[in-house]
Amino acid sequence: MGLNLEFDIRRAEQKDAAEIANLFLISSDGLATYIWRKLAKDGASLEDLGAARYARTETAFSYQNCLLATQGESIIGMAHAYEMQVARGEPETDPVLAPYAALEEPGSLYISGLAVHAPFRSRGIGAALLDCVEALAFTRAIPHLSLICFERNTRAIDFYLRLGFRVADRRPIVPHPDLHYSEGDAFLMTRTVGRVRAGKVSAPRRALASPHGASAISSTQQ
Ligand SMILES: CC(C)(COP(=O)(O)OP(=O)(O)OC[C@H]1O[C@@H](n2cnc3c(N)ncnc32)[C@H](O)[C@@H]1OP(=O)(O)O)[C@@H](O)C(=O)NCCC(=O)NCCS
Repeated sequence: MGLNLEFDIRRAEQKDAAEIANLFLISSDGLATYIWRKLAKDGASLEDLGAARYARTETAFSYQNCLLATQGESIIGMAHAYEMQVARGEPETDPVLAPYAALEEPGSLYISGLAVHAPFRSRGIGAALLDCVEALAFTRAIPHLSLICFERNTRAIDFYLRLGFRVADRRPIVPHPDLHYSEGDAFLMTRTVGRVRAGKVSAPRRALASPHGASAISSTQQ
């Protein structure tokens, strides 16, 4: 049976928090596992902790900053992004997390998570999610997108390079059993919003219809 390649992209709702947490476990290559394990108390599962984290409101790591790719009722991918604040608090003292704190790009729309469930990859869903993130940056007049990716996640690095991201900075990772990679660097990758492509300035191709719209974008892949 062939895959139905139609999908929608909509804003996440609070009821989606568990699915968002699940996709964060895929997108972060072990970092979410590391962070959530540190926060877990009284034997709470990582999945429950992650779901509670993304059910919150008015915080960077909220469902409110998440776009979901869907097919019918099924969630098949997500992009999570928030504006990176200029002022940071205390320097990061956890050595495992320090490289990522050092790579933050203040003033950018930071893509904190991007993932598509494996059976739905290589069909343009990841690129469509990034288009929508760029549209959000465009409407908020945020000039850059940024993200952090492991050097050893070569498929994702190639994907971002193909979509016009460039490596702006890098830090060696500090290995930990929770992390999927034990060597190589973490890359800060950035892209200008409304970027120059083949000599022309191009605005994002898709835009969200309404700030709280349910099913804002529809896309059919050939
Ligand atoms: C990185 C990731 C989000 C990309 O999502 P995706 O939906 O597969 O991305 P796209 O389909 O837009 O583009 C990826 C590929 O599809 C190809 N493609 C895009 N549209 C296509 C289409 N209509 N038909 C055939 N191929 C297509 C692209 O050329 C690209 O080639 P590749 O398979 O060699 O990589 C996904 O691979 C993923 O979830 N990976 C695991 C989590 C992860 O690493 N996240 C990034 C952390 S920084």
